[in-house]
Amino acid sequence: MARINDNYLKLKAGYLFPEIGRRVKAFAAANPGAQIIRLGIGDVTRPLAPAVLKAFHDAVDDLGTSDRFAGYGPEQGYDWLSQVIIDKSYKPLGVELKASEMFISDGSKCDCANILDIFALDNVVAIGDPVYPVYNDTNVMVGRTGEADAKGYYKGIVYMPFTEENNFVPDLPKEKVDIIYLCFPNNPTGTVASKDELKKWVDYANANDAIIFFDAAYEAFITTPGIPHSIYEIEGAKKCAIEFRSFSKTAGFTGVRCGLVVVPEELMGTTASGEKYSFNKLWNRRTTTKFNGASYPVQKAAAAVYSDEGWKQTKEIIDYYMDNARIIREGLKAAGITCYGGVDAPYIWLKTPEGLSSWDFFDKLLSECHVVGTPGSGFGPSGEGYFRLSAFGDKEKVVEAVERIKKKWGK
Ligand code: MLT
Repeated sequence: MARINDNYLKLKAGYLFPEIGRRVKAFAAANPGAQIIRLGIGDVTRPLAPAVLKAFHDAVDDLGTSDRFAGYGPEQGYDWLSQVIIDKSYKPLGVELKASEMFISDGSKCDCANILDIFALDNVVAIGDPVYPVYNDTNVMVGRTGEADAKGYYKGIVYMPFTEENNFVPDLPKEKVDIIYLCFPNNPTGTVASKDELKKWVDYANANDAIIFFDAAYEAFITTPGIPHSIYEIEGAKKCAIEFRSFSKTAGFTGVRCGLVVVPEELMGTTASGEKYSFNKLWNRRTTTKFNGASYPVQKAAAAVYSDEGWKQTKEIIDYYMDNARIIREGLKAAGITCYGGVDAPYIWLKTPEGLSSWDFFDKLLSECHVVGTPGSGFGPSGEGYFRLSAFGDKEKVVEAVERIKKKWGK
């Protein structure tokens, strides 16, 4: 009989969002009249920008013609897409990249997981707590960890608490680590790091031959001037950082699927015998072997995000969500609930009222207000006592959810 990958058995619970989905489904079945408002998973609700939709349609039509038909594209993505992202999104930040350093994919979740293929198992990994669960669970799956302890910390991973005390920017690890996951604007706390704060990490990585995995999935939601949108805005970052970006939240592509990874050519690791080797070459090798590229219409739609019209419309949608974030933030504050984030990110991280545990608050919010959110403890032990609300809902529903919360908890 074939042996399973036993590492999967170390994983504690089911993946967070399906677990929430199961509980909400059970509640809805038992309470058919409840008008449930979903502010849990960060899934977008606005339709695609019209210019993006048109490009998508046109590209599908191309596939129906013999002269514009597209078969296999480059595994790394079409140059016309990489180049427009570089020109429109990186150059204005003062970041120069080559198209050969950018790999277009079918989404950032897969990229964050797949990147582990090109790193040796004995690298020591540092992960935030709370954190986007994919970083933690994929390291467990590949066998980089031992079992989890009673709190949920896996042996072998260095956890970096994101707390009120450190202003949700973790301290540098005391031990030497080889890979550091950073996500800013942060999921789940909705907080950001300044250039000076990121510089500390880049300097640490360069001094310790470590690599930073920088998840910039929410960069388009930054509103505060001067907050870095890319790790490459920090001097020295091309020598130590891989950046992940996503069209999911930026352009409403959660169902369309498109993301990208930047692996600079100067980024080096060492072989078992101590020679330097390029991570860009390895990722290219991995990509050409295991992936056949994001689909042609999806890449055309993604390129249209950066047309003048496409970006104007996309930005309006981003502003819509950020107005939701403001409504949630201000409403919670008016109800006397302490909260963070929601200024440069579409997530609001609140301290549960009455000292409730994250899951108790989840149950109470669902059963008494019919509002769904995400328990902070689902993102890691340091998230206990916190709760995340997403700003990606429909505005009317967001307003209604805030009213229900104010009615229940407001003084
Ligand atoms: C979230 O809610 O944290 C995200 O939607 C998850 C994801 O992007 O995969």
